[in-house]
Amino acid sequence: MANTFPTEKTRAFGKLILFGEHFVVYKVPALVGAVSAYTDCKIEYLDEPGVQVVDNRPSVPNYKVQKFEEGMEAIKLTLNHLGVETKQRGVRLTFGGDLCCASGIGASAAQVVSLARAVNIAESRSLSEDEINAAGYEGERGYHGTPSGIDNTASTFGGLLRFQRTNDVPIFEKKTIPSPIRIVYASTGITASTTKVVGDVKAKKEADEAWFSNLLGQYNILVEKGEKAVQAGDLVTVGKLMDQNHALLQELTVSCKELDDLVTAARSAGAIGAKMSGTGRGGLMVALAPTKEVQDRVAAALEKIAPQVWKTEFA
Ligand code: MEV
Repeated sequence: MANTFPTEKTRAFGKLILFGEHFVVYKVPALVGAVSAYTDCKIEYLDEPGVQVVDNRPSVPNYKVQKFEEGMEAIKLTLNHLGVETKQRGVRLTFGGDLCCASGIGASAAQVVSLARAVNIAESRSLSEDEINAAGYEGERGYHGTPSGIDNTASTFGGLLRFQRTNDVPIFEKKTIPSPIRIVYASTGITASTTKVVGDVKAKKEADEAWFSNLLGQYNILVEKGEKAVQAGDLVTVGKLMDQNHALLQELTVSCKELDDLVTAARSAGAIGAKMSGTGRGGLMVALAPTKEVQDRVAAALEKIAPQVWKTEFA
């Protein structure tokens, strides 16, 4: 039996990190913006046991193949967390929407949050948004062992958020901004493993605590200025700080030549700031454009060298 509700109620957004990927794992604040592109989910309950997945989400080449096992684990963790029984009767889950799956865009979080929304509606659970978010967090653990929670939180709540992991539940706050922030983002076409890259950063930190603490200190100053500039609508400062954040991520060794080339091309075409966004070592680059004309120019320049390019706004 298929759910009878419209799948638009199961929509969960993708995200782009403006400041703070990797550092956010170590309990410092980050700023993240949801994109309007979403994943949705349809549930059908089956007589036979098990979990069947039909994945109709658009994606960059190889993403879905490379992430298949992690994705199945994430789905099972989410269903377990929500107490959805699949040993007696089964479920067929059909994922769709217009969010193109690529490393860095929070596709994994959007998938499990949309699943939690679908279960909530199909089974008349009356879950709160916090409970949907918590289910998304459990699912994210299937994709990478120790997620900060930033991706599922942005996916659930949308908007532009200040997010901080704590020893207890994460804290986050929606930011209001004076005018929309125009963004261009581009894929390197390379799918990265968040588990591996986050693990490498942890190993480097443990090997040289002083080096990491110095970078974290620089980042902390940067994100405080970034938050103020975002709130004030001071895009020139936001852009400069994005450039500085990219330099810190290069030092952290999570950027790569493909990302650096996209960053350089975006800046040459008029972006007032550009950085990698998300896990890195592939994945996405995000650039800030002061006007619609510059946004179009940056996108056109990137289209010559990147397999996929998108425009969006944080509002
Ligand atoms: C991934 O989108 C962001 C990382 O900081 C991991 C996390 O916060 O869980 C790399």
